[in-house]
Amino acid sequence: MFSMQTLQTVFSITGISVILTLIISLAEKKLNDYGIVKISINEGSREFEVEGGQTLLGTLAENKIFIPSACGGKATCGLCKLQIHSGAGPLLPTEEPYLTPQERENDFRLACQVKVKGDMVLEIPEELFNIKEFIASVEVLDDLTHDIKLVRLKLPEGEEVKFKAGQFMQFYTKPYGKIKEKVFRAYSISSVPSEQDHLEFCIRQVPDGVCTTYVHTVLEEGDDVAVSGPYGDFYYRGDTPTMILAGAGSGLAPLRSLILDNIEKGVTADMYLYFGAQSQRDLYYMDLFQELEEKYDNFHFIPCLSQPDPNEPWDGEVGRVNPPIQRDFKDADGSQIEGYLCGSPAFLASVRQTMVDLGIPSSQIYYDEF
Ligand code: FES
Repeated sequence: MFSMQTLQTVFSITGISVILTLIISLAEKKLNDYGIVKISINEGSREFEVEGGQTLLGTLAENKIFIPSACGGKATCGLCKLQIHSGAGPLLPTEEPYLTPQERENDFRLACQVKVKGDMVLEIPEELFNIKEFIASVEVLDDLTHDIKLVRLKLPEGEEVKFKAGQFMQFYTKPYGKIKEKVFRAYSISSVPSEQDHLEFCIRQVPDGVCTTYVHTVLEEGDDVAVSGPYGDFYYRGDTPTMILAGAGSGLAPLRSLILDNIEKGVTADMYLYFGAQSQRDLYYMDLFQELEEKYDNFHFIPCLSQPDPNEPWDGEVGRVNPPIQRDFKDADGSQIEGYLCGSPAFLASVRQTMVDLGIPSSQIYYDEF
């Protein structure tokens, strides 16, 4: 049994901690209470008032202004750069790697890092006002591989999304499980622009990934999902007679869109698709690309497995995509080739180097990083 003295001590400690918690939460509230602030955009051509306290990226999104972001606001993509002429406060260490000295001089900041604490004066490229948000419904949710799902969305009746093959959309989750806030992530569109009332994505499950776990374990066919876009400058330039496309894993998604769009439009450039995967269970859309190769003389498909399963049939390339690219283009004129890459930063760096070694100008190598 507890003595009276012990109980008194416990009660007074509990009382003190309750009071401390109250003081801290009141102080936090006070500190984060920035009141109503004015956001002025493009020399006052758009102005609105908001409650301060959120990031600029989130505040703009709530006001239907969608700034590109591939990392969901974690300061790892650098896509949310904006000119903030006043009200941004000092530059943060998280922003530094993404801003050149010239950009800093011209007031560029990362919208995901800057908090709205007072009146702000911004400049936003006009084309970003064309980006729209859609509430789409999940028409198909299917396994492409053991860890990649096809998500096919249908836009609301009468709505269309005009995008260029290769671009991406932002995908918003709803709160689920221990995730109390909605989050968003960028995913490349894998379908063709001609199908304007549908969007397809190939989404790979990332261990502990908030959005990919949502897609793989929470989302169901028939659910509503919010997407915004289109974003990005990864699209076909068409300035050379040959294009090398290289993708790994779900990096195949924007390349599929580019290839199907080029075929639909009758583009005659030679297209070489190198698809890197680990083993047979990581391959998808094989039938589609093999059929295209048989049907179109200008399309060539080279799947490469780094660790093929010896118990499964495989007569394709073994190893990474780099050696076949080197072999196939060692005698080519690099100035006549464009490269289109999509994959992890390590994949991009290594394939990019291979292409540069082949004499392809780096200004002709376009990439989509995830
Ligand atoms: S959203 Fe990626 S760096 Fe800001």
